[in-house]
Amino acid sequence: MGHRNLVILTGAGISAESGVPTFRADDGLWMGHRIADVATPEGFARDPARVQAFYNDRRRQLPTVHPNAAHQALADLAARWDGAILLVTQNVDDLHDRAHAAIPPRPGFGLIHMHGELLKAACTVTGRVCDWPGDLAADEPSPHHPQGRLRPHIVWFGEMPLQMDRIETALDRCDLFVSIGTSGAVFPAAGFVQLARQAGARTVELNLEPTQGARLFDEGHYGPATEVVPAFVQSLTR
Ligand code: OAD
Repeated sequence: MGHRNLVILTGAGISAESGVPTFRADDGLWMGHRIADVATPEGFARDPARVQAFYNDRRRQLPTVHPNAAHQALADLAARWDGAILLVTQNVDDLHDRAHAAIPPRPGFGLIHMHGELLKAACTVTGRVCDWPGDLAADEPSPHHPQGRLRPHIVWFGEMPLQMDRIETALDRCDLFVSIGTSGAVFPAAGFVQLARQAGARTVELNLEPTQGARLFDEGHYGPATEVVPAFVQSLTR
């Protein structure tokens, strides 16, 4: 196999064939929405009803979508891989979680939702996070603090992505970095390939088409995630 320590970064493209819209496509999620309105703390302070409705719609969609062959291939890899794998997803859906629940990973595996999770909510006062499978009201009371409200557990623009220390430690020791279905438009995730290169890792991009940062990768395999991800995983475990 040659590699032991993997960091795999995923973005909206891995869930696209499951029916979850990406962000920056012509018919993507940001079309018809201003990021400042629905994905910033200021937007939430201005109009909590609008922001809760935006994420309520996306949360309601989750029971109608299912992990696809790309999520499945990564779950199969995690169940067999004899080294460490940190799977870092920018996605707030639960499709990776469901794929890995169906086929339990080996002990060296970790999954981080660096931009948060749709199925969780956070207290505006304490920051405490709880499971939240249903809708959130505009002024949903927090069970954790009398003055608190619940907000979606989503990292908005201007906020710090989650578990960055753990991610940077894994990048520092990885020997293979794979970026799947992400445009590389949003930092810090867009900078992970550089950190992996500095660590001496082989870097691979899997996407529908080469991204703007494609030249930063040692190699790229292009096509739908449900085809290129299983093929790449097979090449790793042959
Ligand atoms: P984007 O919408 O920016 O990019 C989606 C990527 O997926 C593009 O590079 C497409 O070419 C690729 N793609 C689309 N369909 C695909 C398919 N079937 N197979 C393989 N690749 C495909 O989404 P992200 O890069 O995930 O952040 O966006 C990053 C962050 O920007 C999101 O997490 C979100 C957004 O603002 C927050 O909300 C904090």
